[in-house]
Amino acid sequence: MKTGCIILAGGAGKRMKSERPKVLAEVLCKPMLGWVLDAVKDFGFDGVAVVTGYKSELTDAYVASRGENIITYLQKEQKGTGDAVKCAEEMIRAMDSVCVLNGDAPFIDSDTLRASLAYHIEKNAQVTVITAEIPDPTGYGRIIRTDGEFTAIREQKDCSPEEAKISEVNSGAYWFSAQKLLAMLPRLSTNNAAGEYYLTDCVEMAQKRAAYISANPKIVLGANTRKALYELNTIARNEIISKHMDNGVSFVALDGIVIGADVQIGCDTTVMPNTVILGNTVIGEGCTIGANCHIEDCTIGNNVRFDNVRAYSSVVEENVKVGPFAQLRPGTVLHRGVKIGNFVEIKNSEIGENTAAGHLTYVGDSDVGRGVNFGCGSITANYDGINKYRTKIGDHAFIGSNTNLIAPVEVGDNAATAAGSTVTKNVPENALFVERGTTRVKENWEKNFKRKKK
Ligand code: UD1
Ligand code: CA
Repeated sequence: MKTGCIILAGGAGKRMKSERPKVLAEVLCKPMLGWVLDAVKDFGFDGVAVVTGYKSELTDAYVASRGENIITYLQKEQKGTGDAVKCAEEMIRAMDSVCVLNGDAPFIDSDTLRASLAYHIEKNAQVTVITAEIPDPTGYGRIIRTDGEFTAIREQKDCSPEEAKISEVNSGAYWFSAQKLLAMLPRLSTNNAAGEYYLTDCVEMAQKRAAYISANPKIVLGANTRKALYELNTIARNEIISKHMDNGVSFVALDGIVIGADVQIGCDTTVMPNTVILGNTVIGEGCTIGANCHIEDCTIGNNVRFDNVRAYSSVVEENVKVGPFAQLRPGTVLHRGVKIGNFVEIKNSEIGENTAAGHLTYVGDSDVGRGVNFGCGSITANYDGINKYRTKIGDHAFIGSNTNLIAPVEVGDNAATAAGSTVTKNVPENALFVERGTTRVKENWEKNFKRKKK
């Protein structure tokens, strides 16, 4: 059986007051559409389509950035969810069963999709709606049951006062028989309070319908306003932190801690307050991360200590200490046992085992060996205003305090640079490089200076 998925993402979401499509509004720094696409990817459909509309170029760009095999269809005018599904007719034709999802309900998950498909097949239904009971059903389509039998979905705007009291709602996620969906779509009308083509009208049209009640009511939650979006963030944040606690991660206090949905953290690691960990970050076991760290897309080994660190797209091996007040910019690789101290920035550089840069150092575009010591204030001058060049430093080299390494330049193994030197020539291994002006000490200078002044 071929399964396809159509994600509705064309609406403007006026109440968000945003220049961007609503589905790109973020929950824990990931677009809502991204959460839905993650569940879809995990399910493994034979085909996936996203229906775009408002500012479609932005939605297209996000979908393309994921590098997955997803088709987008443009719905030129937002005439309702039924019309949106029609835009993906080509995809429906190629499938046996079609799942339709709302791009603005981020908490749908692949387990629910699998279980509801099994139910859809078991009930031999033409349409199966995924529903849930929620305490405040305002705004959602209500599940109408006649003598217990599921018969229709009534939108908020079309509800009688009695129907409005129903707490079982439509999640906006459905399974359809592809053939039946193709037959029903042309029969939808705009004869309702919103004047839109409602996809939900397919329920009444179908001869065999089923309602799969999800055990997890949060899958229905969507966001139409910033306040609702904040609530989704809060729910996701608490759930993710609690999952990490279950996995053996410690939190002394949760203040200011935000961990993205895709972050992995090993056991016996402690995350301290005011720490934001995002993207595809993986952190090992026995680490202490924080306070006050911001980490994105990093791979961090075991027993690492980060204190007041910003780190982006970097790899940090085990037993490394970074901070306080240090920044690792993209392309940084710190091998085992490295020590990076206060006010040090590393960018696009590989730093060998047990190398130390304790204070006030900039290392950019460099390949640094093992056991190197960077003295306080030493820097690589990697940019001449037009091009960037690399610096190479051999094992156990000693870079004296306040050394300027003018790239491209190489310092050999076991070589040293004298404090204050500006290194413009390669330093062979075992050599000492000294570059200083002639030292002059003028005796009695102050007295003579004052006499001249008079
Ligand atoms: C819809 C359902 C409602 C359900 C709710 C769950 C209908 C008629 N109603 O209502 O029963 O409880 O979802 O969240 O389907 N979209 C388009 N093109 C359009 C209109 C909408 O692509 O022309 C997209 C939106 O971007 C959104 C999704 O479809 O991602 C749902 O549309 P929305 O307007 O938010 O529907 P709801 O009023 O929430
Ligand atoms: Ca909605």
